[in-house]
Amino acid sequence: MNITVRHGEVQKARDEAIVVNLFEDVDTLSGATAAVDKASGGQIRRVRDTGDFTGALGQTIVLYPEDRRRVTAQRIVVVGLGRRGNFDLESARRASAAVARRLQLLGVEQVSSIVHGASAGDLATDAAAQALVEAAILATYRFDHYMSKAPKGSTALKKLTIVEADSKRLTAVRRGAKAGQQIAAGVCLARDLCNHPGNTATPTYLAQQARRISRNNSLTCKILDEPAMRKLGMGALLGVSAGSAQPARFIILEHNRPPGKKASTSKPLLFVGKGVTFDSGGISIKGSAKMGDMKFDMSGAAAVIGAMQAVAALGLKQHIVGLVPATENLLDGKAYKPGDILRSMSGKTIEIDNTDAEGRLILADALTYAQRFKPAAIVDLATLTGACVVALGSHATGLVATDDHLAQRLQTAGDTTGERVWRLPLWDEYKQQIRSSVADMKNSGGREGGAITAAALLAEFAGDAPWAHLDIAGTAWSQRSQHYTPRGGVGIGVRLLVELARNWSARAGRS
Ligand code: BES
Ligand code: MN
Ligand code: ZN
Repeated sequence: MNITVRHGEVQKARDEAIVVNLFEDVDTLSGATAAVDKASGGQIRRVRDTGDFTGALGQTIVLYPEDRRRVTAQRIVVVGLGRRGNFDLESARRASAAVARRLQLLGVEQVSSIVHGASAGDLATDAAAQALVEAAILATYRFDHYMSKAPKGSTALKKLTIVEADSKRLTAVRRGAKAGQQIAAGVCLARDLCNHPGNTATPTYLAQQARRISRNNSLTCKILDEPAMRKLGMGALLGVSAGSAQPARFIILEHNRPPGKKASTSKPLLFVGKGVTFDSGGISIKGSAKMGDMKFDMSGAAAVIGAMQAVAALGLKQHIVGLVPATENLLDGKAYKPGDILRSMSGKTIEIDNTDAEGRLILADALTYAQRFKPAAIVDLATLTGACVVALGSHATGLVATDDHLAQRLQTAGDTTGERVWRLPLWDEYKQQIRSSVADMKNSGGREGGAITAAALLAEFAGDAPWAHLDIAGTAWSQRSQHYTPRGGVGIGVRLLVELARNWSARAGRS
């Protein structure tokens, strides 16, 4: 989508459509909406007075100006912003998404819009512009890579011009719009990686994509193959990958990697993403129903790769590291089995109770590898447990953390981005559930508190730096399209990680 910002009055735009807005509980029209109403001879006032348009959040109405000398666009779209007291960035995104989808259905390709909520809604101008752009791009995202013919109604919204009447706001609008575009591109990359099926998005493919994004900007990329992992003693990751014909890969992306020796003093923010490109369950095989959804079991990896692309595009100042252990979990004569004992890179041994609890195994080795960076904080993302889906449904990502400050920062980032997280406890009693009689721990703690016992295993490898684990099993993909999220891969975690990183400073890691 082509995005531009210009100074001017929206009623004078010559596009296929212009967009203005209304609050549900504010009766006097103001700003650009009042100007367009006046130029259209009171059309907005009339749809409001009939009660046909209430201004409920996301409600849209399309009007056709009679005097095209006074309103030069073909259509006026009015979008509801909901109640003024409830208005926030999520409302701005939902309003923008509703408009973008309506326009897409109409086959409109170019539109001029004002920024929702910056003048009347108390939002910071740059954040409001970012929300507008982000949601317009995310709401019109489609994955039709494998369709021979483009599906019906697939005209894309091609051009969004943001029209700002207040010249004092222009710089902030430009800044926000640019950031929105860069962040949305990271989310769309993550969605693509998720939506590609397992026969395309193999561990090798993820590594190639990481390599590709590192060519363009401040990123460096290093890929470990299986012999390199064996040298490091990554027995947990290699145990999971043993049953797969696709070789495992360990991806290391770094943004602003300091040269030479400084690398050990830079205290980076470090992300880890579970990259199981297909999870059959292994020998502890899953049922057939919905097994195809397990192509999404690399959503944590996708979030990390998408976020790394975005932080690089944004040109953030900090050193940020992204790690992705990538493998399939399949069945084979060579596959790992229940009862096996794996020796992890840390030296700790893990008894395999269930080969379907594979995510924590590959993350264990990734967390151990993370220690060499002496990170200021570690955040891992994983479609880790069905238990988390049972606990929180699809409305929040599960959070387990060893550090209250980091947890608080993620909670705040979640509220700002709409990628909400909800914290679960990590009491010692949960740790006892993964005790083994033959090894240092076992990889399953049974059904009770399953999301937490999985995190308890990760905690054994997380080291002393503040650590947070995000279980995105319920939020990574969606059965239906809603607001600015399509069916399929959500790209969850990208906006959350980017928001955390943008607010990060060296001091932020300390509690
Ligand atoms: N990838 C799954 C978790 C999952 C399940 C994500 C459903 C999204 C939807 C994970 O590898 C897994 O299979 N976990 C097991 C763990 C159990 C065997 C201890 C689970 O949750 O059933
Ligand atoms: Mn599994
Ligand atoms: Zn899995």
